[in-house]
Amino acid sequence: MRTKLAAGNWKMNGLKADLAEVEALVAAHPSPLCDVLLCPPATLISAMAQVAGASLDVGAQDCHMKGSGAHTGDISAAMIADAGGSHAIVGHSERRADHHESDVMVRAKAEAAIEGGLIAVICVGETESQRDAGETLTIIGNQLKGSLPDHATAANTVVAYEPVWAIGTGRTPTLEQIAEVHDFMRNALVKRFGAEGDGMRLLYGGSVKPSNATEIFAVSNVDGALVGGASLKAADFGAIIAAL
Ligand code: G3P
Repeated sequence: MRTKLAAGNWKMNGLKADLAEVEALVAAHPSPLCDVLLCPPATLISAMAQVAGASLDVGAQDCHMKGSGAHTGDISAAMIADAGGSHAIVGHSERRADHHESDVMVRAKAEAAIEGGLIAVICVGETESQRDAGETLTIIGNQLKGSLPDHATAANTVVAYEPVWAIGTGRTPTLEQIAEVHDFMRNALVKRFGAEGDGMRLLYGGSVKPSNATEIFAVSNVDGALVGGASLKAADFGAIIAAL
């Protein structure tokens, strides 16, 4: 039985004043029935972890593949853990596009996160032109193969399917399209990792909001969501948590 996970990615949003939203979320959902994770910008991890207490986990939006050294602007798994973080998103499509992160790099980052004791939230997803060309499952299969470390387990790895064209656009795939990809991912993970692949949580991400959360969470092999814009406000994210 996979515990559902509601994960929020604040992206490059959030100042100290916005921690009031986390306080409100914790007050409204002190003991959520699902796991809850928020990934703020690195500047807020420590402060958010203190506000979050035991009600929700806090994570980073990236993690360098090396433990320390001359890598200006980057943060390591040890730093994330030291700040109170327990998870790291790796391979988000915005980083794959903006920072030219390849599957090889994403896999190295996931390995570093896991070796540092974090849970890696590994993102995959096709672009609109790839979907239009009928390449979705090939792209997702290759990204899974290339981005997941061989020692990925149900405990140390979460996979997030985020179609690039659905991120921040208000557009979502049909429920059938989500099911097709999630079932495909489950089969691929079971084939490669056996029971561990069966236990890995598969999140859907891309324009999830309170109004569509319930129907998306009912889709086969959807174990929760990775939420961008709607995770910024306690009322919206709280409604998504309640829908799980
Ligand atoms: O990582 C979450 C994300 O990319 C989805 O963003 O704003 O479409 O929910 P959004």
